[in-house]
Amino acid sequence: MSVPSPLLLVVDDDQVARELLAEALGREGYRVRVAAGGEECLQLVAAQPFDMALVDLRMPDLDGLSVLKRLATIQPDLPVVILTAFATIETAIAAVAAGAADYLSKPFRMEEIKIVVARTLAARRLAHENLQYRRELKARYGFDALVGQSHQMVEIYKLVARVASLETTVLIQGETGTGKELVARAIHDASARAGRPFVVVDCAALPETLFESELFGHERGAFTGAFVARRGLLETSAGGTCFLDEIGELTAPLQAKLLRTLQERTIRRVGGNDPIPVDVRVVAATNHDLRKLIAEGGFRDDLYYRLNVVTVTMPPLRERSSDIPLLAQHFLEAFAQRTGRPVKRLTPEALALLAAYHWPGNVRELEHVIERAVALASSETLLLDDFPLHLREQPDRAPRLPAAGMTLEDVKRWYVTKVLEEAGGNKVRAAELLGIDRSTLYRILERQATEDEG
Ligand SMILES: Nc1ncnc2c1ncn2[C@@H]1O[C@H](COP(=O)(O)OP(=O)(O)OP(=O)(O)O)[C@@H](O)[C@H]1O
Ligand SMILES: [Mg+2]
Repeated sequence: MSVPSPLLLVVDDDQVARELLAEALGREGYRVRVAAGGEECLQLVAAQPFDMALVDLRMPDLDGLSVLKRLATIQPDLPVVILTAFATIETAIAAVAAGAADYLSKPFRMEEIKIVVARTLAARRLAHENLQYRRELKARYGFDALVGQSHQMVEIYKLVARVASLETTVLIQGETGTGKELVARAIHDASARAGRPFVVVDCAALPETLFESELFGHERGAFTGAFVARRGLLETSAGGTCFLDEIGELTAPLQAKLLRTLQERTIRRVGGNDPIPVDVRVVAATNHDLRKLIAEGGFRDDLYYRLNVVTVTMPPLRERSSDIPLLAQHFLEAFAQRTGRPVKRLTPEALALLAAYHWPGNVRELEHVIERAVALASSETLLLDDFPLHLREQPDRAPRLPAAGMTLEDVKRWYVTKVLEEAGGNKVRAAELLGIDRSTLYRILERQATEDEG
């Protein structure tokens, strides 16, 4: 079976340029279609996937950059080379920033065009192969994306491996950024459903009415504007896994509807009467305390028990700081590779800083901090200065108010005791922190001691 030659699309409102290019590329053995404007280009790509498009920048109906942006939603992996007779640095930068694969100025030099086309197609092939390779790795080893060797993470791996093969619903709990979605994917990838759809539904993203039809689908005529029947996300996930993120945000009527789906393994589209069987595994996640939500009347306990057949609780990063060096190096390499920056490692001081921080945003925050540091780095090694100042701040520095009914004198003594504690009992250091001299500190402590006795 012979592989068909790459299919190119040439878009230019100038007929002469268009035909010249089409002919030259045809002679190179490519299959070529042409479009005389932006709208026509979008229609052609919507009808059929292309391997590459060459798009003129200035066209009367829709300019090249707008075409580029719209193409990204129609065929995201389509490389687009922008053509222009008005080459400036600004347009070149704008084109590349908008996602153009390359940029060619008119009048064309045919040799240059052939090279750019060949290079762009080769890069696309490589990207596809990489994607394929990553998929295979994932299939073979399951959860390649999860980094961490702390005993907490090893427990998570074991749990994931155990629940993956079961068909039960799973509830993943944990603070923001702890990797709940990553674990949901790992469960899917390690299950018999791997290779079938993994559909992410953010329960907090849409208003209730829209969300119901998004999740359960709707029949034709179910509401104004429902011209055709549509499958919902639960139906789209059939055979695979549906990840319901932020499940605590689900409204009461939708909680009831979801409960019915889990019990009966069917869905009912909006405006539909007949239950439709669906084969979908539900994995839900929340960073709320669902038990508390139940106590407050915000969540159904019967749904909670349905979801909570197995619970995976993601540990916050500050409780497994032994994973921080591993994660930091992992993100460093990923961002260095992605941006082409020659950053290789962190200094021990920088690592110590990261290990001591309390990471309220968990792994996601660490990821962002490393991304920023890699972007700013001026050498192969990330230094202390490459990290934001707030990492140096301690949590809980703001004073907490003592019990009500204390006099100013009480508060003063309470505060002195706190500072002394924080200074590890070192009175010299405590006096420094308080900004008073040592004798004053001794006097306060002495008075306190005699009063405590009396
Ligand atoms: N163990 C890990 N190894 C590697 N990357 C991780 C790990 N945990 C989390 N990440 C990364 O951190 C980021 C946040 O993870 P994820 O989106 O899964 O968190 P989440 O718990 O769903 O957060 P939220 O509650 O805010 O939705 C992602 O970019 C993810 O790839
Ligand atoms: Mg998430």
